[in-house]
Amino acid sequence: MLIVSSLAYAAQVQIAISTDHTDMVLATNKANQLMFMYYGTKVGCPQQFEQFQSYRRSDYSTEPLAYPARGGRFFNQPALAVKYSDGDANTELTYSSHETKNISSDVKQTTVLLSDTKTSLEVQLVYTAYLKEDVIMAHAVITNKGKKDITLENYASSAINLKAGSYLLTHYYGSWAREMQVEHELLTHGIKTIENKMGVRTTHTENPSFMLSLDNSSLDENHGEVIAGALAWSGNYKLQFQMDETDRLSVICGINDYASAYTLKKGATFSTPEMIWTFTTSGAGQASRNLHDWARRHYIYSKGHLAYTLLNSWEGAYFDFNTKTLTDMIDDAAAMGLEMFVLDDGWFGNEYPRNSSRAGLGDWQTNTKKIPEGIAYLADYAHKKGIKFGIWIEPEMVNPSSNLAHKHPEWIVKSSGREITTTRNQWLLDLTRPEVQDFVFSVFDETMKKGEGKIDYIKWDCNRHVESFGSTWLTEQSRFFVDYTLGLYSVMKRIREKYPNTIIQSCSSGGGRVDFGALEYFDEVWTSDNTEALSRVFIQYGTNMIYPAATTGSHVSAVPNHQTNNITPLKFRFDLASTGRLGMELQPANMTKEERTFAAKAIQSYKQLRHLVQDGDLYRLVSPYDGNHYALMYVSKDKKEAMVAAFCIHYQGRTKTPKIRLHGLDPQMKYSIEEINNEKPSFWGNGKTFSGAWLIGQGINPQLVKLYDSGIWHLKAQE
Ligand code: DGJ
Repeated sequence: MLIVSSLAYAAQVQIAISTDHTDMVLATNKANQLMFMYYGTKVGCPQQFEQFQSYRRSDYSTEPLAYPARGGRFFNQPALAVKYSDGDANTELTYSSHETKNISSDVKQTTVLLSDTKTSLEVQLVYTAYLKEDVIMAHAVITNKGKKDITLENYASSAINLKAGSYLLTHYYGSWAREMQVEHELLTHGIKTIENKMGVRTTHTENPSFMLSLDNSSLDENHGEVIAGALAWSGNYKLQFQMDETDRLSVICGINDYASAYTLKKGATFSTPEMIWTFTTSGAGQASRNLHDWARRHYIYSKGHLAYTLLNSWEGAYFDFNTKTLTDMIDDAAAMGLEMFVLDDGWFGNEYPRNSSRAGLGDWQTNTKKIPEGIAYLADYAHKKGIKFGIWIEPEMVNPSSNLAHKHPEWIVKSSGREITTTRNQWLLDLTRPEVQDFVFSVFDETMKKGEGKIDYIKWDCNRHVESFGSTWLTEQSRFFVDYTLGLYSVMKRIREKYPNTIIQSCSSGGGRVDFGALEYFDEVWTSDNTEALSRVFIQYGTNMIYPAATTGSHVSAVPNHQTNNITPLKFRFDLASTGRLGMELQPANMTKEERTFAAKAIQSYKQLRHLVQDGDLYRLVSPYDGNHYALMYVSKDKKEAMVAAFCIHYQGRTKTPKIRLHGLDPQMKYSIEEINNEKPSFWGNGKTFSGAWLIGQGINPQLVKLYDSGIWHLKAQE
């Protein structure tokens, strides 16, 4: 048993994990435990923590452990809970060693080795610091060096500990077609948990990401201390916020321990997913920009190229098409200036044709009645028209009405002796099984082969979650949830080795797989199945707080909208979609000539501005939750160019024009302002030049007063 005195640390070892503007400090206490001392602005030499005193009771071990383990004198929420072969459920980790190495000129990695006082359990805490972006990525590597198997009952990725006057938690709740709604709450004593237990499609109801505003009762875009966190994991997750009796906040994030006890065989290692942290004193906006820069430069799959505009066939044709329908859509897409056509669901299955969601999943042969010429013909047709070609697959799923379901009933996720439930008329394939992993890989591979080298983009869908979890393959059923996600990643690794340049979208009934775990392999996500522009204001506002706009597909669809029945003007739809990765999802044949002309112009404008949306700095100017308007802007890194977008989301009595103060500009520069996508400019300053200082201080007051009025402005610095 460790006897801990917290009166003074008398720290022998202090470890600073530093970025350009932040420090995270760990230090050992007298009992050689590794404590989480600090996360915030730079504090200089970490040795200053040597004699630190917290004045906590010395006989209570409530000091913040860097990786709190269940047992010993520790009684708060643990990051690690282990059961040993003798039934002991305590773990007491002490510091063994640490090292820091340079991964590159602006990335440093610190690894701290901890070991249990009684057993041969070792834990490495790995912190990767991205200096310029002020991001620290953290995960744990747990190794059973003993002679007997042990059970990991909880194995979080990372824990931090904070002390502030108040903690405002901002998180992202929702549902299908209403993802990433922003909710704020001041944390009180006790535990707040954000989690998902659905196995796959885990990000509709919550997202494994959040922001914490310290000493601030509202989310401030531009000022104040904010910590943002995101877990890179596409399975069940759990984010826990525990405020204890000393008002300290412990934040523990990782894989959800729900039904997931994991046996670690002797000699085996388990590596947890990465938890991404950022800290800033410049408000939520800077926290987002840190995450966006880090993601775009270092982490997500699509690095360094601009995303293409596209026409997706789903809402325009659903399951009802033939070759002519598709080639006509390709013609129309090319004529409007779109750069890619994506053939969605419905192209496969012969014996069990995919004419609705009721049949065909699993039978990935081209439907010869609908497309007798084959997929390569369509891809070739698109290429000849000068645009790229993409296609939809849902390889993790099977309809009961399919040859695959008859051939491989053992591949289906099921708990022995229990009913297999369908969702959207489909079952889930058991990705913990190596043959299923091979099959899922082959669905991708064979589809690519069907295109004879001309498929540029794959939309990977996933339309159900796990029910009655279980596997006929696994001997240890509680590995199911974790091994499913690891199985998915293993398939994605193989796919990326063979197809490094194929653009792949992670779609999961819209935004059901929107997380950094997926974005390590996928280029972008389908943000939501709700394509209606007013709903999208809120969905995209929330999603882009964490995930960069370049990765969030945003499509213009028909009215009345198929999800909400709402009717919004084409301009409003285009302007809003232009703040993400622009696409269209409708039947162009149903558009009027004027609508097509407008669309072509708006697509052309987007192409001229998309480097700002996709590579620039996002500034949220007016929150849609504040009532009447939504406004945001993207600024180029050199501050010489910007795009501002604003939307009226409530009728303003024709009198209340918004005052939109801009951010991120250079006050010393002069900027010309040009409104795009509008015959009749809504801002009196259109075509004029203003100083950055004026735009920041006074701002613009466009006449956006009627419901669904919107505007986009292009700002250019004048030499
Ligand atoms: C759900 C997706 O989110 C939609 O975009 C579409 O691809 C359908 N599935 C197809 O079944």
